[in-house]
Amino acid sequence: MAAGVFCMCGIVGIVGSNAVAERLVDALKRLEYRGYDSAGVATIHNGAMDRRRAEGKLFNLEKRLDAEPLPGNTGIAHTRWATHGVPNVTNAHPHFVDGVAVVHNGIIENFSELRDELTAEGAVFTTQTDTEVVAHLMAKYLREGVEPRAAMLRMLNRVSGAYALVVMLKSDPGTLMAARSGPPLAIGYGRGEMFLGSDAIALSPFTNEIAYLVDGDWAIVTRDGAEILDYAGNPVERPRQISQTTAYVVDKGNHRHFMEKEIYEQPEVISHALSHYVDFASNTVGDNAAAIDFKSVSGLAISACGTAYLAGLVGKYWFERYARLPVEIDVASEFRYREMPLSPSQAALFISQSGETADTLASLRYCKDNGLKIGAVVNVKESTIARESDAIFPIMAGPEIGVASTKAFTCQLAVLASLALGAGKARGTITPEQEKQMVRHLAEMPRIMSRVLNLIEPQMESLSRELSKCRDVLYLGRGTSFPLAMEGALKLKEISYIHAEGYAAGELKHGPIALIDENMPVIVIAPYDRFFEKTVSNMQEVAARGGRIIFITDEAGAAASKLPTMATIVLPNVDEIIAPMIFSLPIQLLAYHTAVFMGTDVDQPRNLAKSVTVE
Ligand code: F6R
Repeated sequence: MAAGVFCMCGIVGIVGSNAVAERLVDALKRLEYRGYDSAGVATIHNGAMDRRRAEGKLFNLEKRLDAEPLPGNTGIAHTRWATHGVPNVTNAHPHFVDGVAVVHNGIIENFSELRDELTAEGAVFTTQTDTEVVAHLMAKYLREGVEPRAAMLRMLNRVSGAYALVVMLKSDPGTLMAARSGPPLAIGYGRGEMFLGSDAIALSPFTNEIAYLVDGDWAIVTRDGAEILDYAGNPVERPRQISQTTAYVVDKGNHRHFMEKEIYEQPEVISHALSHYVDFASNTVGDNAAAIDFKSVSGLAISACGTAYLAGLVGKYWFERYARLPVEIDVASEFRYREMPLSPSQAALFISQSGETADTLASLRYCKDNGLKIGAVVNVKESTIARESDAIFPIMAGPEIGVASTKAFTCQLAVLASLALGAGKARGTITPEQEKQMVRHLAEMPRIMSRVLNLIEPQMESLSRELSKCRDVLYLGRGTSFPLAMEGALKLKEISYIHAEGYAAGELKHGPIALIDENMPVIVIAPYDRFFEKTVSNMQEVAARGGRIIFITDEAGAAASKLPTMATIVLPNVDEIIAPMIFSLPIQLLAYHTAVFMGTDVDQPRNLAKSVTVE
């Protein structure tokens, strides 16, 4: 495939009864988590179509609009995350061709072939985007005299790939046409106004009455309502629901960044999440952790991406240990193509904050096709992954705006711990006494988290000055601290841009030890658990080669180890079922303060987006 500028992006449209440009930008602000390479808005006014576009973040577009406002009661808008090519104004959406305007989220896979065909017929392409073929196809059919709906249907039957699209025509100012094949698209019902958006949060200031298009749907939206059709042109019904997202207030409170706010919210949101799964009065795991019949399943397949995958990896240790349930786990981008043999006697768990991650969704569909029972551990309950699952396990973290996941990670862990205990209970692999004991530990967790956050903050801040001078950092851990080591490295590299790797401590001597010298800090995560002595031996190997150790341990561990370190971070002694959540806090704060110290864009690090709806 030729290189093009593909996008992952957020889209929005309004057919309104008064000016829409400002409201479109307001909606884009709620979609900026989907990408922030460029943004644009287009409206129709007095029979003319016009647009404003700007490179970079939304405030650049706002400045453009302040200088040159856009009147008009119908409009579309877009915020972009490019995967190929330079994110510049020319490639920013909306794309215009002969009175057709298009915004698009996803990839038109056959764009190259369509572009060649249209170019041969005389079309002149002005951008490097795949999206422009959609505008050219529409323009061509309209020029040939095809009426707008038929043109839309013809265009949809020519393009292939993953897309959510909104099309606006200069000739029809009171209508927007939209289609979904992959990335999500919601229709919002207002009073005398109608809305389209990549999610319900985008539309939340305008309406909470939402219908989601399903793959293969397209819609004609006017001020009075929406007609939803399939690709054969037959009408279909999609239920309207009242979205729960409208109540969310998205602001930073007293914090400098959303990431900081989200780190400090963890005690509260974890307590909320836990109370959904465990009964603190009886110290037992409740029915919400039993939405999958763990007793009868022969094994568990877990798939997710990035931080969510690392939460799954901690979950694997728990399901295997407490429920004696074999777990197959892989990153979703590998899982979906591995063609692994699966049996309908297994269940599958998909972990995703956004619930929209393309690779995770594809893995889910692979498991569904193989007859597995599907469970979704998600933050966004109305997301595609949630809607396509048999059982939803919400993590109840509230909106996570910082691109680097923090509270979603620890809430995912809290939910997975509850599910593993629920599975152990159902399978008879933990006794009622053990269940009670571990639920008691879970119940203590929010309080311990608050204490730890206050306790370690000053130390993390001063340590981050040292870390910010480094080019490379190694994180080591064993058992559930191994995924945490990888999570620590991921957090550091994504927001501070310092190269970092997480390793299983025992693997050190099989290669990475060659990197150790006095310039390489090694962050060792080692609660005083059954692996402690082994991890300390690995630390010894680092110390013997002049490596500088940052030791994250607990009181018992600090007392037991006499090795010299660059710094020792001492957490309270906690039970091993809650250790991964508690030990997440120093690694999050260390990454956060290092990034702040280095002056990077903490909440919106370069090249990243919060919701990854392309492969
Ligand atoms: C890292 C991070 C990403 C996400 C990953 C999956 O801090 O946030 O690695 O975890 O993109 O996203 P979700 O959970 O939305 O599927």
